[in-house]
Amino acid sequence: MTTYEEAIELAKRRGFFWPSFSIYGGQSGFYDYGPLGVLLKENIVKAWRDEYLRLGAIFIDTPNLSPEMVFRASGHLEKFSDLAARCSKCGSKYKLESLLKKAGIADIPTDVKQANNLLENISIRCEKCGAEIKEVYDFNLMFALEKNEKEASRLYLRPETAQGIFINFRLLSNYFRGKLPMAVGQLGKGFRNEISPRNALIRLREFYQGEVEVFYDPEKPGFADIPVFEETTFLPMDHNEKRMTVREASNSGLIRNPVLAHFVFRTQKILSSIGLGDGVIRFRQHEKNELAHYSSDCWDAEAKLENEWVEIVGISDRASYDLKRHAEFSGENMVITDGDRKFIPSVVEPSFGIDRTVLSVIMVSIYTRENGSKVLKLNTSIAPYIASILPLQKKDGVDVLAKDIYSSILETESRIQYDESGSIGRRYARQDEVGTPYCITVDYESLEDRSVTVRERDSTKQVRISTDSLKQNSGHLATYLDSLFA
Ligand code: ATP
Ligand code: GLY
Repeated sequence: MTTYEEAIELAKRRGFFWPSFSIYGGQSGFYDYGPLGVLLKENIVKAWRDEYLRLGAIFIDTPNLSPEMVFRASGHLEKFSDLAARCSKCGSKYKLESLLKKAGIADIPTDVKQANNLLENISIRCEKCGAEIKEVYDFNLMFALEKNEKEASRLYLRPETAQGIFINFRLLSNYFRGKLPMAVGQLGKGFRNEISPRNALIRLREFYQGEVEVFYDPEKPGFADIPVFEETTFLPMDHNEKRMTVREASNSGLIRNPVLAHFVFRTQKILSSIGLGDGVIRFRQHEKNELAHYSSDCWDAEAKLENEWVEIVGISDRASYDLKRHAEFSGENMVITDGDRKFIPSVVEPSFGIDRTVLSVIMVSIYTRENGSKVLKLNTSIAPYIASILPLQKKDGVDVLAKDIYSSILETESRIQYDESGSIGRRYARQDEVGTPYCITVDYESLEDRSVTVRERDSTKQVRISTDSLKQNSGHLATYLDSLFA
């Protein structure tokens, strides 16, 4: 089994995620989160949100559906499309880029004319029926509702959460008393009619994004400081891979815009804190012909999943594109005044794909012990549960003490479980497989000396601690238990 297959199998069996609608034959591009997946996702979102809250960001929540004018102004109506290829024999549809990449063609055409020229000179075959593919067309990725309505009533599912922030700029700026920089975040769903959804959480039709729009004055940008953090790998447009810190990448001009560099650093910090550190992550600059219509520069955080690099976060320089377009189309005043100066702010946007991050975290965490059992090496901060309380016996008061410890910790920490079913070995294995870092066992000795055993997941080392200190430290259980094995 590949790591991907192992992750998918474990995710379904243990309740992290699984394909949606399976009792009706399934529908590609949709996944459900199960009980553990919901918790893991929430913890990842918390790591993302907390980093930005510490930076003074504010958050909003806007609708999934938007009227057509929003996307006419944002440019998505006209430009948010992929080149698609259709087999005229069996009707199969493909994203042209994927077909060409598989055929070893790196120079991907950017419009239908270029694509037709290319297909006249090479032979690309349908993966299903083998017929030669010659038909290429532009495929807008937005889902439209009420297509036949008049323009004013036509609605679209948003392809990114960002537009909800841009169109509220005036209100947000008033709330923020006109100050810049101003970082505004939104967690929500994006919807894209992907031509060929695949690879579970990697290419969905409905997915979670955690986006932050950082509005700043281009003449006084702020964010000058980039702390020294671990080295990482950069793959710039010229394909000369480099190892350095983000601070060095900014100072040397590798990343042109210092504000963008600052948010590459923030992204690196968040990813590292959830177990996606150096060796797993690289930052790749977009090629010119790859940039979205609103972007003047973009660096993607990519995770190495088996042998493939997968984009999980896009950090884009959107300059003043969106605010200018919405000012033009709506008449709203998007101008900031600073003394005699009037200007439309610039924007840098770190856009986190939450689902891809969840899958990446699971794929890089999974390993197999010598005895064949699986373990998820999740960081304590994002594991669904920090600890599970396990009574060794279900009688003689051992279970009563275990339940007492459980309910006492629950008063301040909800990320704990109680499990008394099955042998202790099976219970450890169950917790290892879902990434619980600590098992706290209660036994006959506990009744006598009020102590419990804490077992650490990866080393399987055990230490004995008093129930009093466990209860006293339950308000910061994760750091307390981590410190016992540091
Ligand atoms: P790709 O090139 O893989 O299609 P993208 O460049 O279109 O991705 P962005 O538009 O930059 O992606 O979106 C920001 C983030 O949203 C991505 O880094 C990714 O994590 C997530 N994302 C985008 N499309 C999807 C999708 N179809 N399924 C799951 N996550 C997605
Ligand atoms: N906001 C970046 C994107 O989703 O395209």
